[in-house]
Order: sequence, then C-alpha cells, then structure tokens
Amino acid sequence: MTPASETANAAHEGPAAAATDAADAAVTGATARMFGLDGRVAIVTGASSGLGVAVARALAAFGARVAVVARRLDKLTELAKEIDGLPVACDLSDLSAVRTVVPAVVEGLGAPEILVNGAGSMFTYERAESEPVEASRRTIDLNLLAPFLLAQDVFPHMIAAGRGTIINISSISGKVGIPGIPQASYAASKAGLSGLTSELAVQWARHSIRVNTVAPGFFRSEITGPLYSSEKSIEYLRRNTPLPKEGTAEDIVGAVLWLAGDAGSYVTGQTITVDGGWTAR
Ligand SMILES: NC(=O)c1ccc[n+]([C@@H]2O[C@H](COP(=O)([O-])OP(=O)(O)OC[C@H]3O[C@@H](n4cnc5c(N)ncnc54)[C@H](OP(=O)(O)O)[C@@H]3O)[C@@H](O)[C@H]2O)c1
Repeated sequence: MTPASETANAAHEGPAAAATDAADAAVTGATARMFGLDGRVAIVTGASSGLGVAVARALAAFGARVAVVARRLDKLTELAKEIDGLPVACDLSDLSAVRTVVPAVVEGLGAPEILVNGAGSMFTYERAESEPVEASRRTIDLNLLAPFLLAQDVFPHMIAAGRGTIINISSISGKVGIPGIPQASYAASKAGLSGLTSELAVQWARHSIRVNTVAPGFFRSEITGPLYSSEKSIEYLRRNTPLPKEGTAEDIVGAVLWLAGDAGSYVTGQTITVDGGWTAR
C-alpha cells in the first residue's frame, strides 16, 4: 500500500483511525532510524547455534548483511541461505586461523561495521583446584583472545567507515560466582571481556567505534543442554531467577540490537546484564 492510499484508507475510517495510522507510521520511522542497519556489514561469531543464530537473524531482519562464523559449515551455510549472508568456517580457538576471518568477510561482503563476538565454550567442568591448565588456556583463547584479535582486525575497517560497534557476549559468571556449576577459567574469560570492553572503548572512542559487552543469564542452547536435561537443575535456575519466565536466546537479542544500531549510539564501554534479575538479588 502506498502512503497516499494508506492516508485515503485511514480517512475513510475516520479521524481516530487516521491519527492511529499516523502514530504508527511515526513509530515505524523512528524505529527504522534507531534500529535500522541497512547496508551495514556485520560479523557474528558462534552463529551455527543458540544465541549467535538468533542475533544473526535479527541483524539481517533489520537490514544488515551478515557473515556467520563458527566451525560447522553445514549449519552456517543453511543459515546464510536463509538470511542471504556469508558463511565463514573457522575454529576460533586456533588464533592463527582467527586472522583469516575478517579478510574473508571483507572480500565476500565488504568492510564490517558491526562485530558480535558470540562464540564461546567451556572445556572443563572440573572444580577450580583441579582445572587442567590446557583446558584453561583453550577457554581463554576462544572466549577472550579470539574476540580481541577480531576486534583488532575490524579496527582499520571501522576507522575507514567512520563508525563501528563491537559487542562481546560474556556471561553473568563474569560478574558473580555460580554455586554448584564450576567454571573458573570460563568466568575469568568472561570477566576479561568486560575489562577488554572498557579499555577498547576509551582507546577507540575517538574513531566513533563503540565497544560493549552483553552478559546473559542462563538460557537453553547446546552448551547448556546438559543443565536443562535435569528437572533438579531447571528448578535451581528457576529459583535463582526473579522474573517468572525461563530465559531464551531471543530474550538476549534486544540488547544486542540496541547496541548494534544508532539507538545505542551514546553507549560505550558498558557491560549490559540480561539475566531475568539473577544478579540483582
Ligand atoms: N546458554 C547460556 O545459558 C549462556 C549464558 C551466558 C553466556 N552464554 C554465552 O553466549 C554465547 C553463545 O552461547 P550459546 O548458549 O548460544 O551456546 P551454543 O548453542 O553452544 O553455541 C556456541 C556457538 O559457539 C561456536 N563455537 C564453539 N566453539 C567454537 C570454536 N572453537 N570455533 C568457532 N566457533 C565455536 C559454536 O559453533 P561450532 O560448534 O559450529 O563451532 C556455536 O555456534 C557464548 O559465548 C556463551 O558463553 C550462554
């Protein structure tokens, strides 16, 4: 429907309907200005599963051209087809392989203005006193160093574009200890993202590059599959979450969208916790 026929239609339905339509159009326009990502190239790591998939879909829905990064090429290819994006297979725990990601995106889609560092994992479920050092090292490489290297690699492209936004995905365990679920090096890597975030934010603010972290609480995904397979642990999560609903990947996406677009244009160096109130108790 054209704007003219919309107006005619609204007039036909009376002044109240016309006012409602005008208000709707204003909201739509404002939403597009604040959240629209038309033409911007985005990189989302961890986009073969869970939160990364939800973020990639949302950024694409708001107009971004999205490169989806993880190890499983079949899943990436499927998602890339759906959102008209670019699949980039990479093991991000291999820090020399990480260096191939941004050049592949630049070649396939153009210069990135949005980087969402979503890939993350745990390599041990041992208690802190028994964590094998190799597992701790792999955790830090994947969860902290890979995001740092990707940020370094997008930096010159964001400078050239005159703007950029980097969003790291950490965890509430980067902020508080989680009784009963040992995760020392994972927690350290996620807390490290918040430190990296505030430091990059102040170093790169002069280039209008914003750097923030979103710290989710628990939601169902591959990594938390075992947790959600037991009624006892589901009850533990319920008991510790003030809001009366179970978290989902989609619950986290809004914060990422806000930080990715112009709606978040005055926000930098922050860690935004999205956890149903877990850390507010
Ligand atoms: N679920 C939660 O409750 C929760 C809570 C707080 C924070 N988080 C964080 O949220 C982020 C997304 O997690 P999720 O829950 O959505 O988990 P998920 O479903 O397990 O997804 C993890 C993603 O990371 C990718 N990945 C893992 N290892 C990789 C590697 N070596 N190289 C490249 N990609 C790798 C996986 O893809 P491939 O296997 O294909 O490589 C997958 O796409 C993570 O950073 C996680 O720490 C999750």
